[in-house]
Amino acid sequence: MNHQTNEPPMSQRAHRLAHVAQTRAALAAIESGTLTEHERADLLRMREEEKVARDVYLQLYDRWGIRPFGNISGSEQAHMDMILLLLERYGLPDPAQGLAIGRFNDPALQSLHDDLLARGRQSQAEAVRVGLLVEELDIFDLRVAASRTGKPEILAVYADLERGSRNHLRAFHRWMRQLGTSYTPTHLSAGDFDTIARAAHESCH
Ligand SMILES: [Fe+2]
Repeated sequence: MNHQTNEPPMSQRAHRLAHVAQTRAALAAIESGTLTEHERADLLRMREEEKVARDVYLQLYDRWGIRPFGNISGSEQAHMDMILLLLERYGLPDPAQGLAIGRFNDPALQSLHDDLLARGRQSQAEAVRVGLLVEELDIFDLRVAASRTGKPEILAVYADLERGSRNHLRAFHRWMRQLGTSYTPTHLSAGDFDTIARAAHESCH
């Protein structure tokens, strides 16, 4: 597979790299403390859940050549990097280490990936629904994970990732409207989903 064609503009890449570097520096400056069982499980899951997003989007970009999948997959890579920084900070093994695109350690995430990819390959309308599903699931799971930690450095990363996911959801929602198709949320409430979909783009800083 050749993913060179979906490289984002240099400024966007530079911005993402700077953001990851900032988070690394911030984490180095704090006491790492001990994780609860929930915090640990949530970090391990979020690392692979962001990989589901990245890998599904990379493969759907190869299938359809539609720009949002290319751009957003780069952002999902940055999300994976941010969670990895937290795993490293707390001395946890990386569940995604050495795994190729489309391969997962967690069997539930493997089957989620396989199911979403098969659906997204059927048509462009299905592909955009897969994007919306990935983003609303990500937002839902990030909110649950955030509710189970009081650690500011973890909450800061989750908040960053959730903001990114809200922007991704809006990008897919715009594309959905262009295709003249529709989507019914299954993880967020219809009200929450609509509020996010209708809001303006949120910038990083
Ligand atoms: Fe996303």
